[in-house]
Amino acid sequence: MSRLCFQLIQAMNIICVTLVIFCCLACLGLHGKAENNDGALSVVQQDDDNGIVENDNGDSEIVPDKYESFNPTEEWQTVKEGQAIPAGLHVRMNFETGEKEAKLMDGEAEYKYWRDGDRHGMMNMDRKQFSMNELKKALKDFKTTQLDDTDLKSEAEVKKNFKSYEELKNDFASMNMDIKTDFEIITELVKQLKHKDIGRDDMITVLQDLEYYLHQIDNGILFKDIGGLPYILNIINKTDDKQLQIEAAMVLGAVTSSNPKVQIGALEAGALQLLLRLTSMNSSIDVKRKLIYCISTLCRNFPYAQRRFLELGGLAALGSTFDEPGVEKVKIKIVSFLNDLLVEKILVIENSKLELSSDIEKLKQYKQVHLEEAMREQGWCERIVTLLKLQDHESRENVLNIMDSLSTSCKTCFIKSTNDLKTLQTEYSQLSVEELSIGDGNDYFTIILNVINSVLTNIGIKDEL
Ligand SMILES: *[C@@H]1O[C@H](CO)[C@@H](O)[C@H](O)[C@H]1NC(C)=O
Ligand SMILES: *[C@@H]1O[C@H](CO)[C@@H](O)[C@H](O)[C@H]1NC(C)=O
Repeated sequence: MSRLCFQLIQAMNIICVTLVIFCCLACLGLHGKAENNDGALSVVQQDDDNGIVENDNGDSEIVPDKYESFNPTEEWQTVKEGQAIPAGLHVRMNFETGEKEAKLMDGEAEYKYWRDGDRHGMMNMDRKQFSMNELKKALKDFKTTQLDDTDLKSEAEVKKNFKSYEELKNDFASMNMDIKTDFEIITELVKQLKHKDIGRDDMITVLQDLEYYLHQIDNGILFKDIGGLPYILNIINKTDDKQLQIEAAMVLGAVTSSNPKVQIGALEAGALQLLLRLTSMNSSIDVKRKLIYCISTLCRNFPYAQRRFLELGGLAALGSTFDEPGVEKVKIKIVSFLNDLLVEKILVIENSKLELSSDIEKLKQYKQVHLEEAMREQGWCERIVTLLKLQDHESRENVLNIMDSLSTSCKTCFIKSTNDLKTLQTEYSQLSVEELSIGDGNDYFTIILNVINSVLTNIGIKDEL
């Protein structure tokens, strides 16, 4: 995630164009009314990012295209009558000839001249100034980076390349733009969302903004407290508009992710029923994928929601999606979600301290989640072994992990796949030997091999290797 942001910012660095207007006429005193009469280099804000050249007055007067555009160099060149020149050049009047001349600024190598068809201008290679949109984006990325980046090495790298939050704020201030608090922004976004005349495109923009802000725990709680959740559920319910459903599901996933208070709020607002109903419906697979993501964020570390998931027929809803042809990636998502729940329960049972009353309560709640039994009864042992045929390591890893979790409950079924398991055992034994012989500490295949061995042992097959 942070690497992606980093790349985005780098890409932006390159397209960043700052319009530098060097007002030579004023400098020479020939144009008394010019605003920049100090002749200094001034940086002018522009509100788009493509650096379209404007003339000195800031209005984009159309210059008759009698001549080809001026192509500046390090040397003074005559500017022909009516010829458009890019901003950011040294311009002077030649008093002998009465002609205007222009050249690239000395020592300003960070400004590069660019040209794209009819448009041309100077590009700031040194990133001295952000455009308004870039600033907003940079601020967003800055926060995201702060959130996600636990890798100190890359954080240092990021710091080198990014403006600090304070710098960004100052940039905003110098543009007379308020930095709103997250509180104000979210309140405003929810207000827009609630507005009955909001257009579809605006709604998508609002949802995308919300998704970004609501990853933060406090923002998510605020969103719930000011009544945002029912509106999101409403949009997810718009089965005639796939894109809206997907965007809204991304918001629900973001806001419920690792946020217990919001998970409770969403459950109370009926999110689980809605998600399961839509999952069993004839929705597109892209929508289902996001619905499963939401079901997962809603249920993780929340045993009460897991119990409701089972009571509301969640396994059947996921089963019908699983049984659709040709959705291998979605099958793996489902299986890894279910295994997360199985492992979660095992870890709680293993780690509970019985002298802590909170742990006792937690344990009690998890013991009411009978996922493993329900999976066996509802045909999941059989579903899971069909995935052993998948060829990529990551899918296999997920399948083998859940087989390991279910090896007691699904023993009779898994025994029938002994041959498949042994084939995999042979394959991963070789990969493991190769991996260990390299000796770079990489043990990915060895871990998979250990899982296979564990499954085989648990279902009572002697390890012959
Ligand atoms: C979703 O829509 C259905 C009918 O289209 C409606 O019965 C149901 O109450 C709606 N659910 C939510 C949570 O908005
Ligand atoms: C719903 O099912 C019909 C056939 O039963 C199919 O033609 C249609 O594409 C499906 N719609 C979606 C969104 O999957």
